[in-house]
Amino acid sequence: MQIAVTGRSGQVVLSLLERAKAGNVEVRAVGRPDLDLARPETVVAALLALRPDAIVNAAAYTAVDLAESEPALAHEINATGAGAVARAAAQLDIPIVHLSTDYVFDGSLGRPYREDDATGPLGVYGASKLAGEAAVVAATANHAILRTAWVYSPFGKNFARTMLTLANTRDEISVVSDQLGSPTNALDIADGIIGVARNLVNRPAAPELRGTFHMTGAGETNWAEFAQAIFAISAGVGGPSARVRPIPTSAYPTPARRPANSRLDNSRLANVHGVRLPDWQPSLRGCIERLVARDFQRKDTQ
Ligand SMILES: NC(=O)c1ccc[n+]([C@@H]2O[C@H](COP(=O)([O-])OP(=O)(O)OC[C@H]3O[C@@H](n4cnc5c(N)ncnc54)[C@H](OP(=O)(O)O)[C@@H]3O)[C@@H](O)[C@H]2O)c1
Repeated sequence: MQIAVTGRSGQVVLSLLERAKAGNVEVRAVGRPDLDLARPETVVAALLALRPDAIVNAAAYTAVDLAESEPALAHEINATGAGAVARAAAQLDIPIVHLSTDYVFDGSLGRPYREDDATGPLGVYGASKLAGEAAVVAATANHAILRTAWVYSPFGKNFARTMLTLANTRDEISVVSDQLGSPTNALDIADGIIGVARNLVNRPAAPELRGTFHMTGAGETNWAEFAQAIFAISAGVGGPSARVRPIPTSAYPTPARRPANSRLDNSRLANVHGVRLPDWQPSLRGCIERLVARDFQRKDTQ
């Protein structure tokens, strides 16, 4: 099975490329300048040329705070661009797996969100991703929209790397403790995507496999506890660590508001696709050990 994935250096793109062999699939990444979601006319041609069995749309405008001052570009990439990717899938008569986000919700619910709970994005990024979901649905019924959250990995910019970088120069770091969610390793997302894509390709006439699904690491935590877990692992393998001072969201203002509850209920994905991501703690260990070994040294040895 050959999967075409949009984007070149994104966390999910690089994770799919790394996990392809274990998943027994061929993954081809296609991104700018050949495929530019801000230039929809490039999208269909680039994907048609690859003639894949399935398309994964992992490219997105992901700068949540910057999006507040660039709403048109965020919408262009996350909504119009996503629609163009889905139309290419429809033209090729193949399934699309589209990545979306917990930020489509306002976070006011007192339990993990299910797929059919009411959406209500708090910011431009979330609104653009919600519009992207609608564009995918409008373009083809042959889709699986996977909403994930709190993505980190050994690649690119993410919370784990930011914490380790800050700990290189600080003894104490303030981190918000009143937002709940589930850290999700992009390598686990890649395994999940491959499982879902295989189901869609192998069972083209199974409507229950199509639709929207939630896919995050198992278990839940808050950002401050997540940071503490990162530092506990890092310290154990000789990497940087810092004390974590839990603070409320009100003490850390950002241009975009974040949902207080980002927990997603993953049971539909497990029941329908047989895909379950691992517990977030063991998954985190592998990533931090790898980041420390590659990019970080203990403060007192520098
Ligand atoms: N990061 C999170 O915490 C998080 C949480 C929930 C959902 N998600 C969703 O998960 C998916 C993957 O996220 P990620 O963390 O892997 O993203 P990421 O690391 O920020 O990477 C973004 C990717 O999008 C590509 N891209 C951006 N603008 C583009 C354009 N105009 N044309 C083509 N490609 C473009 C980038 O291209 P280059 O390779 O050229 O830089 C890069 O490959 C996204 O749909 C995101 O919305 C992420």
